Amino acid sequence: MHRPLPRWFAHRGGGSLAPENTLAGIRLAARLGFKAVEFDVMLSGDGTPVLIHDETLERTTNGFGRVCTTSDDILFALDAGWGESIPRFADAANLCRELGLLANVEIKPSLGQEIETAERVAKLTVDLWQGAFVPPLLSSFSLTALEVARDLAPDIARGVLYESVPADWMAELKRLRAFSLHCDADFLPDDILAEAQANVVPVLCYTVNSENRAKNLFAHGVSALFTDRLDLFGPDVING
Ligand code: G3P
Ligand code: MG
Repeated sequence: MHRPLPRWFAHRGGGSLAPENTLAGIRLAARLGFKAVEFDVMLSGDGTPVLIHDETLERTTNGFGRVCTTSDDILFALDAGWGESIPRFADAANLCRELGLLANVEIKPSLGQEIETAERVAKLTVDLWQGAFVPPLLSSFSLTALEVARDLAPDIARGVLYESVPADWMAELKRLRAFSLHCDADFLPDDILAEAQANVVPVLCYTVNSENRAKNLFAHGVSALFTDRLDLFGPDVING
């Protein structure tokens, strides 16, 4: 990343004001002044990278069963909310480029598909953002996926995602040649934040939906936050 990070990322595409991980959500985030969005990418049963968070379809669509065993013809006919279909990763990438949004592409493999998901997503990310003015940021909870991304897309910045940050996190970041540390805002000890600052590693925290919490985290040196509350963190707060 060669530019200052936006302070706010719309979590799961559009946060809580739009169906999560949809193009409508990404458009809404841009309309509300967000400069960055985070979304989750998994492989369909046909190996197509698509935007979805859960390994199963029930919570966010009118379908059922596992994403990784559902064929594209079935998957793309489902309603992901507001009549939106599950987006192809390629369509979300093109939309982010068109809107000038920084995309945090979270590689979210179905269990056991870490390598093939990362291979597909990393290679596509290179192609889709070729020559882009705003390059994307890849991240994953899967260290295996990040290793693949490091090897196949070395020039695309990587963020290491943790729920709870382990003591050897800095060694992992170095091994993965990662740019940033992403973690749960509720599990970020002061000593880890201090170590990140000493090593000039940006820290990005999910999921922050309250103003006081956000102020506190920024005051302590966190670089950026993921939020569902697009209504609360409108352009004034975002640009302020
Ligand atoms: O990438 C940050 C955040 O999205 C990680 O949690 O479960 O919402 O993908 P989750
Ligand atoms: Mg995510």
